Amino acid sequence: MKIDGVHYRTIWVGEDGRSVHVIDQTKLPFAFETVELTSMDDAARAIRNMIVRGAPLIGATAAYGICLAMREDASDAALERAVETLAATRPTAVNLRWALDEMSTALGKRQRDERVAVAYSRAAELCDEDVATCRAIGEQGLKLIRRHAERKGGDRVNVLTHCNAGWLATVDWGTALAPIYMAHDEGLDVHVWVDETRPRNQGAALTAFELGGHDVPHTIIADNAGGHLMQLGEVDLCIVGTDRTAANGDVANKIGTYLKALAARDTGVPFYVALPGSTIDWSIESGFEIPIEERHSEEVTRLNGRTASGEVVSVDISAPGSAAANPAFDVTPARLVSGLITERGICEASHHGLISLYPEALDREGRKR
Ligand code: MRU
Repeated sequence: MKIDGVHYRTIWVGEDGRSVHVIDQTKLPFAFETVELTSMDDAARAIRNMIVRGAPLIGATAAYGICLAMREDASDAALERAVETLAATRPTAVNLRWALDEMSTALGKRQRDERVAVAYSRAAELCDEDVATCRAIGEQGLKLIRRHAERKGGDRVNVLTHCNAGWLATVDWGTALAPIYMAHDEGLDVHVWVDETRPRNQGAALTAFELGGHDVPHTIIADNAGGHLMQLGEVDLCIVGTDRTAANGDVANKIGTYLKALAARDTGVPFYVALPGSTIDWSIESGFEIPIEERHSEEVTRLNGRTASGEVVSVDISAPGSAAANPAFDVTPARLVSGLITERGICEASHHGLISLYPEALDREGRKR
């Protein structure tokens, strides 16, 4: 997508053919800066410190982390070490494990002197696949928005989203936001309610930045406002992303997603989750097996912002000495999800629904692989 008229992906290889470049998402929306990653440790740090974030982009960064590791040492032991280090950076998004498995498979049987070239080529493929996948998710989700627009006789369609599942969370396009960009591009009147998404404010800082950059009408709301707007009929549908989808269709996404799904169910607002196949964890039967990341309490007790003089500062916002807890994700049970928007189509949030789109997850005897 574009920033000031220039097309960017969120991750790319530098002109030297070695270094990896990412957008520093901790600086947005106040400054656009890029960061150069030249070692596997740089890549691990970028994921851990949320310079990059969002399930698909975390996976892509880990893939390039393997490339950088192979440049230093292409032995089996170094590959194993790099996989272990990168896998430990963040626990909830399963795309991380998926991308590392893809890289390990590509490199496993290769000679040491081939590994650097193979790694860069596989990482580039994974990124290109992510772009194609997100575009396909967009096309699938667009059908839903079109249907709402038709039903409303061309009146504005209001979509509520939580956190950031736009192009900044992927390599390009995004998952939940891809259908919205496409609807806007084809001239549908679409407006987005953007949950601010405390504590790190990925909605107010990143989703709003993205939508503004693409001229999509949007309004930032406090996280607690969504249910009220749904009761007033101001939300036609919700679309969110997911960091991990269990085989039964339960989804883990940014903390607060569950409450939006509950409010949507109570008010009859359809609640959709957009995801690439790489976000499905076939090894778990229930979302409640997904590890939920517990982040630093200071993300709750302090806030970053820009002062009137333009300085970006961090300030305390809570009673000094009070403890704070910071679970970063929650699980929305499949029963609250109206449908899963994938690159292969839209399905029911259930094992049956997922298998109808991803039959390769079963072996010939119909058992889970
Ligand atoms: O903690 P973050 O910012 O990495 O969390 C991101 C989200 O929860 C997104 O909604 C999710 O990764 C889906 S992304 C396309």
